[in-house]
Amino acid sequence: MPKDPHSDLPAGPRHVAIIMDGNGRWAQARGRPRLFGHHAGARRVREVVEACPDYGVKYLTIFAFSTENWKRTQVEVAGLMSLFRRYISKEARALDEEGVRVRFIGDRVRLDPKLIKLMDSLEDLTKNNEKVHLTIALNYGGRDEVARATKRLAQDVADGKLLPEDVDEETLPKYLDTQVLPDPDLVIRTSGEARISNFLLWQSAYSEYEFIDTLWPDFTAAELGRLCQGFGNRDRRFGAVKI
Ligand code: FPP
Repeated sequence: MPKDPHSDLPAGPRHVAIIMDGNGRWAQARGRPRLFGHHAGARRVREVVEACPDYGVKYLTIFAFSTENWKRTQVEVAGLMSLFRRYISKEARALDEEGVRVRFIGDRVRLDPKLIKLMDSLEDLTKNNEKVHLTIALNYGGRDEVARATKRLAQDVADGKLLPEDVDEETLPKYLDTQVLPDPDLVIRTSGEARISNFLLWQSAYSEYEFIDTLWPDFTAAELGRLCQGFGNRDRRFGAVKI
């Protein structure tokens, strides 16, 4: 990985966001139920989080459940919710010991109170960690996030806390779930689909994208490394012209 001439960190992406797709197909190829693939997918998360510091990735955001995923069968939705509860209970200590700060984004209203409690406790347990910032998008949709943010912003205007003429590109992000997080530099989607599926719509305006064929349960730290390296060789101009 080439070094950033201005720091000791590799010149890779600081914030990587991942659409973890392909669990169902991975399971199907093995003649197993879709949830088997989700469990295999959950096991990949640890390796990827742990690899982040090696590639200078300080922020990792992963798409675990979208606002559209409720349309799946009741068995799959219930299985995923139970997987999230088990994942948080089982991984909390290891994540904390690894110095990972965990945050959740998405709308919590539809989530089970037991799951919300676990999410709150994991956020609280890891709140002083700084090595890697892991954000898990759960019941998350980019449009839903912008709509909820706009509602809160409109309420502040109605309450006289904000003037309409003061609303600009700096104001709205303060109301988004991602608040303190930097925008993603690199968005990866596994499983060969080239769509962003309502993920970080506002935040990814200038992100680079990598659509790769690997199914999420086969994704490895080495592949993350390869993509980070590729990112270091890209020329990002943010709409400007290089002089
Ligand atoms: C998309 O694959 C994947 C999901 C909807 C769930 C993502 C969840 C995990 C990777 C597991 C748990 C994560 C955490 C944080 C514990 P798909 O089912 O759409 O696959 P397909 O397109 O092959 O059907």
